[in-house]
Amino acid sequence: MQDSMLENYRYFLKDSIRKTIDFSQIDQNQRVAPPPVQKPYNSTAECIDLIPLSEFPNVANIDLLTAIGQRRSRRSYQETPLSLSELSFLLWATQGIQRRMDSGHALRTVPSAGARHSLETYLCILNVDGIDTGFYRYLPIEHQLLVKLRDPKAGNRLAEAAFQQNWIANAGVVFIWSTIPYRMEWRYGLAAHRVILLDAGHVCQNLYLGCEAVGAGMCAVAAYDQELMDKLLMLDGIDEFVIYMGVVGKMRENSEQKNK
Ligand SMILES: Cc1cc2nc3c(=O)[nH]c(=O)nc-3n(C[C@H](O)[C@H](O)[C@H](O)COP(=O)(O)O)c2cc1C
Repeated sequence: MQDSMLENYRYFLKDSIRKTIDFSQIDQNQRVAPPPVQKPYNSTAECIDLIPLSEFPNVANIDLLTAIGQRRSRRSYQETPLSLSELSFLLWATQGIQRRMDSGHALRTVPSAGARHSLETYLCILNVDGIDTGFYRYLPIEHQLLVKLRDPKAGNRLAEAAFQQNWIANAGVVFIWSTIPYRMEWRYGLAAHRVILLDAGHVCQNLYLGCEAVGAGMCAVAAYDQELMDKLLMLDGIDEFVIYMGVVGKMRENSEQKNK
């Protein structure tokens, strides 16, 4: 590969761009209203209540030292379904809202650059007690699931969009994180994109640790067909697109597998 090309791509990993930006011109400083903390949805759409935080205090009952110490990427899952409590806990652990300041600002269980939280969470539900197979979106404000599409073939379609990583179709649930970049660009302009990816890492790590705590296994996935995955989730691929995934299922004994 050409050295100049590598240098250009490495530039993205650095924060040098911040020094080139005229922050007086970005939308936040031009007093443009912040975008909403959650992607709007049709108020008549079907939604499913999740279990509230106050009702799942015992769902995760291992200590942090153990959760961190035994964390592993796991790609083989039991046929036992995840419970709705476990799923509710994992959603709260990865994107749950702790405090809403106003329509454009909220604090969540994960950190985010400038508290901009540009991510949305889609779920491909395959084996969760009481919930039909298909595609859903987490609504962190209401702590509900928005039904997007019931689809018995969701698992195979998702695995196909993930370059035939067929083990994905045996999961209980797949977390698919998209970004709405403008939420971050509103505050950081061209310095937004690097921190969006840093944010995603925090979310995924909370999912890893949350899974260990509820006897589930998971594996991060960043290799997928971008265009196919966006299409599957009905995202436009410009103002919102998929950036990362976490595949989750009840843990098998000795579920460690050859790591890629
Ligand atoms: C950013 C990122 C992307 C990954 N993408 C994939 C993937 O597409 N498919 C997969 O099977 N594993 C994927 N993994 C899992 C890694 O292979 C795994 O973390 C690594 O082998 C180390 O194993 P450990 O997580 O058990 O420590 C990914 C991990 C990360 C952090």
